[in-house]
Amino acid sequence: MDGRAVPIILDVDTGIDDALALALAVASPRVDLVTVTTLAGNVDVERTTTNTLAVLDWLGASSVPVHRGASRPLVRPHQDAAFVHGTDGLGNAELPISDRALGPTRGPAEIVRLANLRPGAMTLICVGPLTNLAIALNVEPRLPDLIDRVIVMGGAFSVPGNVTPAAEFNIYVDPEAAAQVFAAPFKQLIAIGLDVTQQVVLPRSMWEATTGATEAAPTLVSRICRRSFVERDLDAVQLHDPLALAVAFDPMLVGCIPAQVSVAIEGEERGRTRVVGPGSVAVASTVDAERFMRLFTEALALPGV
Ligand code: BDR
Ligand code: CA
Repeated sequence: MDGRAVPIILDVDTGIDDALALALAVASPRVDLVTVTTLAGNVDVERTTTNTLAVLDWLGASSVPVHRGASRPLVRPHQDAAFVHGTDGLGNAELPISDRALGPTRGPAEIVRLANLRPGAMTLICVGPLTNLAIALNVEPRLPDLIDRVIVMGGAFSVPGNVTPAAEFNIYVDPEAAAQVFAAPFKQLIAIGLDVTQQVVLPRSMWEATTGATEAAPTLVSRICRRSFVERDLDAVQLHDPLALAVAFDPMLVGCIPAQVSVAIEGEERGRTRVVGPGSVAVASTVDAERFMRLFTEALALPGV
């Protein structure tokens, strides 16, 4: 990749680790955050949208447009992850509420609009359920030719799932959407699943070191991760979505296998992602965790531990 900033549409269900992906996008000179689209996932779409606006404003990025997207999966009721992310989706961090207006178009329509406006230029990163992208694909069947790359945080290929033994959350919530996305002829579709994201974590010591921080990104980390470390008593917060974001400007962070991916739709297997043969999806199977952590801590100016 050349040194230019990558133009990115970031599709989020903010969410603690989504907020950290937003922070990395805002902080990295290698990212041109063109727009952010939201949808129901970790919590309902009203909250993921409110959270996204609040996080961007907190980070001084209130000029980045936010477009509200899907309020539920394609064909089934929405199931959230408030247990993990808190009832407000941000670890009950109580960030100031943003008063700015949303973008005038809905999330999927904005993806289609930008893809047509800048054909072959945009990288779309989806770090929530794949509903917005599936809708966009149905509205604009030429989308795979118009988008340069799609990076998906989703799937559990060689490791157990995190919502059922079979499934990772983003795929489980909307398996019909995921099946459509993995079957679409994108020029580059990269799947960043739990196989690699569970290897990149923000340890308790790093969170503790943010106590008393005054800069925007470290204070965001301090506030949104508090519940995970204090009330949930976790040792670490997994950095699923920030890793997917980082792959956009540092693809060598992960090693991939070229695969055809199937998605199970129903029953106990619902949401299971499988490699069923060679194909055009790049499924991440290895990660340089040290390199990612260096990049992440430097970009967010997190205190050394
Ligand atoms: C994914 O699910 C969500 O809870 C996280 O934000 C991440 O996108 C991990 O399975
Ligand atoms: Ca997410």
